[in-house]
Amino acid sequence: MSHPPIVPPLASHGRLACSESELAEWGTRFGRVASAPLLVTISGELGAGKTTLVQAICRGYGVTEDVTSPTFALVHRYDAPRSPVYHLDLYRIQRPSELVNIGWDEISTSYALVIVEWPERAGELIPAGHVPIDLEHDQVHPDRRVLLAG
Ligand SMILES: Nc1ncnc2c1ncn2[C@@H]1O[C@H](COP(=O)(O)OP(=O)(O)O)[C@@H](O)[C@H]1O
Ligand SMILES: [Mg+2]
Repeated sequence: MSHPPIVPPLASHGRLACSESELAEWGTRFGRVASAPLLVTISGELGAGKTTLVQAICRGYGVTEDVTSPTFALVHRYDAPRSPVYHLDLYRIQRPSELVNIGWDEISTSYALVIVEWPERAGELIPAGHVPIDLEHDQVHPDRRVLLAG
């Protein structure tokens, strides 16, 4: 059985078209090999599969709790064998300075796996050197998403 590569070749142009189960499998594999400190950003419109992907990454990283969308809390923290995991959903913030209130300075510099949905909302506060992932709806297939990583 062949697996898609963890990052598409020529990532800036490479695109992986994924069913939901393929996206989950990709995320689980990514989570297995991820090592802290690591910041992953996931952009894409509502329903693109960002939270679905975070759940898979967390599973691969060894989070055993249920991972739910932090839409209202903005940030959820989970324990995992290798480091804590912070999952942020910034959809509801109006300006980057609001990140201060949720402890962004500490989160972004801690020894952790940090995964951010709606990173655009954080503007310049997203440090360089993170792993950017983008999810897009497939124009043709409603149940496929296009994943761009790296
Ligand atoms: N290929 C796919 N990848 C991810 N999600 C998919 C896919 N096809 C359909 N879906 C559905 O799209 C929705 C994605 O929701 P969610 O992960 O919460 O998105 P987001 O966090 O980007 O708003 C889920 O209901 C999921 O079942
Ligand atoms: Mg979400």
